[in-house]
Amino acid sequence: MILTVRKLKAGYGPMQVLSGISLDVNAGEAVGILGHNGMGKTTLLRTLMGHLTVQDGSIHLGGKDVTQEPAERRAAAGMTLVPQGRGIFSGLSVFENLRFALVGSGRPESVLDEVVASFPRLRRLFDRAAGALSGGEQQLLALARALCIGPSLLLLDEPTEGIQPSICDEIVDILGQLRRTSKLSLIVVEQNLEFLRALADRVLVMQKGAFVGELSPGLLADPVESMAALDIVFGAEGEQRP
Ligand SMILES: Nc1ncnc2c1ncn2[C@@H]1O[C@H](COP(=O)(O)OP(=O)(O)OP(=O)(O)O)[C@@H](O)[C@H]1O
Ligand SMILES: [Mg+2]
Repeated sequence: MILTVRKLKAGYGPMQVLSGISLDVNAGEAVGILGHNGMGKTTLLRTLMGHLTVQDGSIHLGGKDVTQEPAERRAAAGMTLVPQGRGIFSGLSVFENLRFALVGSGRPESVLDEVVASFPRLRRLFDRAAGALSGGEQQLLALARALCIGPSLLLLDEPTEGIQPSICDEIVDILGQLRRTSKLSLIVVEQNLEFLRALADRVLVMQKGAFVGELSPGLLADPVESMAALDIVFGAEGEQRP
């Protein structure tokens, strides 16, 4: 098991957002998380990464208790977060962004070539300022940066938000390849059902800081079935679906 989370509670100051989350992720497994706005998806990823303090419960990464460990230690142990909004340095070039990530990780320069081999589109943009890239290209850069540290568990927060379908397909291909070759595990928060269907082994539905149901990707493939399932998990009282 790469990640074991038990009865996790966390939030902001006295406000509790996560109300007791338990989750197991196997090596090489891709878990999707689906939920309305404000349900706690980003809060969960930030708590897993160590950006928010755990109020109660535990997080084990690769069998080691990291509940009280800072984000840097979790990164060194193989966990990386690509945040919602991407977190790249827009004034630096694509190349500088990648080098910066690599230097922080202490890994050799040769890693950069290995990572970039999966991103032909980025290689052509090496000298371009990151802020001048399209949204999709910025997402590819954020992903490449995350891969520079050689993660075993990648946390992705709405990676397809505002990007064109061709880049969504590229991301699916790159991550699928890494799962096969390096047993990379993924937790993907996403509202894009098509993307989740292509990438996730299972999809957990989050509501008010807790998991309230699970959908199989097969179910997501059928629009009528998936809408019926979402009605069940979210309730059909006219709430807007994701
Ligand atoms: N920095 C913060 N300080 C205080 N409250 C916050 C903060 N960030 C988020 N919240 C609150 O925590 C709750 C969960 O927010 P969170 O960002 O985790 O939701 P989300 O499921 O990721 O939503 P979205 O789909 O809009 O990204 C919301 O009620 C939100 O207002
Ligand atoms: Mg969010």
